[in-house]
Formats: sequence, structure tokens, C-alpha cells
Amino acid sequence: MPRLVQHNSHGPKQVGNPKDNLWICQCGLAKTQPFCDGSHKLTLDESEEKLYQYDANLQRKELPIE
Ligand code: FES
Repeated sequence: MPRLVQHNSHGPKQVGNPKDNLWICQCGLAKTQPFCDGSHKLTLDESEEKLYQYDANLQRKELPIE
């Protein structure tokens, strides 16, 4: 069953010892969950007033806000 989940973050959160360089995905787009793979860069030009949906190929479309 598909599920829509809203994410508002545009970047990862570093966890553990900084020398381990572990970053947890907070944008929801990483294919390497729970770890960041850099896909959050696709969200950097999003407008805060708009709603977006990304498909499995990380293609973005804008959704109407009701
Ligand atoms: S925070 Fe999601 S891919 Fe980097």
C-alpha cells in the first residue's frame, strides 16, 4: 500500500562521533535509508509555500494545497 509522508527538512542530521561521518536522512528521498545519499540537494530550491511529491525516480511534481 502506498503511503504519503510529509518531510520538511532539506538536509541530513549527523549522528554519533563526527569522525565516523554518519548522516541520517531527514528529507525522505535517500535510497540508502536511513542514511543520507545526497538526494536532499533536489529539495534545496523548493518553495516553503508549496507542496511537492517525488516519485520513485525522484521526479518532482507540485501538488495543489487544499
Ligand atoms: S537528507 Fe535525505 S538524502 Fe540527504
